[in-house]
Amino acid sequence: MARIGVLYGMEESFPPALVDRINALGVEGVRAEHLKVGGVRMAVPSGYDVIIDRISHDIPFYRSYLKNAALNGTKVINNPFWWSADDKFFNYALATKLGVAVPPTVLLPHKKHPEGTTDRSMRNLEFPLDWQGIFDYVGFPAFLKPHDGGGWKSVYKVNSPDELFAAYDESGDLCMTLQGAVKFQEYFRCYVIDRQHVHVMRYDPGAPHHLRYVPGNPPASPDLQRRMVGDALTLCGALGYDLNTVEFAVEDGVPYAIDFMNPAPDAGLESVGQDNFNWVVDAVAKMAVARALAPPETPELHWARFLAGGGQ
Ligand SMILES: Nc1ncnc2c1ncn2[C@@H]1O[C@H](COP(=O)(O)OP(=O)(O)O)[C@@H](O)[C@H]1O
Ligand SMILES: [Mg+2]
Repeated sequence: MARIGVLYGMEESFPPALVDRINALGVEGVRAEHLKVGGVRMAVPSGYDVIIDRISHDIPFYRSYLKNAALNGTKVINNPFWWSADDKFFNYALATKLGVAVPPTVLLPHKKHPEGTTDRSMRNLEFPLDWQGIFDYVGFPAFLKPHDGGGWKSVYKVNSPDELFAAYDESGDLCMTLQGAVKFQEYFRCYVIDRQHVHVMRYDPGAPHHLRYVPGNPPASPDLQRRMVGDALTLCGALGYDLNTVEFAVEDGVPYAIDFMNPAPDAGLESVGQDNFNWVVDAVAKMAVARALAPPETPELHWARFLAGGGQ
């Protein structure tokens, strides 16, 4: 029997719906369940063929557990090693190299020294920064936002250097990026599953939370739709995420990718709405089953070659 475990935190609707949907598919030899874990023994298989991870970004214990599970043959969605290594600024740079439109973005040093460090820890830092050069490159308005974050936490829209400096002061010891604002007429959020299935959702970031996924999901123009689907697949293929959302802000017909590191994307029924919820539950259920039935994977990791006897 191939076992699929779902690992989650506070979310209410998606995990049980996923377990139920997988089991309702009735695929012989495959079962899904709510994962259980206690003290984790090193180098011992987890007992699950596939794990869908919705929470390890908040619980380091789970991240470490998942790495050990992957080492012992579990297919973990999403890859816990890459998720640990990844950050949004790297992703903007990668996207640019892949030909996906991204607004000009600069990585800034922490405003406050990270805990346990002092100015002596940062003697390599240019001071003062060339703020004028940064402003000329990024332009105003701009968004100051964490290089690794989510849920709109510590995201500031700034219209001038003064507003930027005030927001930067508030950002404390977070590592921030400054990104040119897209003056968008349309905005979309795309689920990308298994690096092959894309569901484009019209989104209104200015609306109250429960109305952000625009009811009825009016479609994009065919050209825009094609480009967003292509860019979303390019990004998730390169990043190796099997479950992700890619957000596009569209200015004058150009979709700018501004948020595409969401390896545990919002999938709550109350926020995404019934139709989007059905789509994502179904797509993830089918992916999980396909993975459970697939032959063992050799993760693209350096140590994997050593374990296979391939040396360097
Ligand atoms: N470059 C940008 N141009 C226009 N709007 C932006 C930009 N960056 C962020 N935003 C706005 O801020 C919101 C949150 O930023 P985002 O990058 O999506 O971070 P999070 O991961 O916290 O969702 C976006 O949904 C969008 O409304
Ligand atoms: Mg976002």
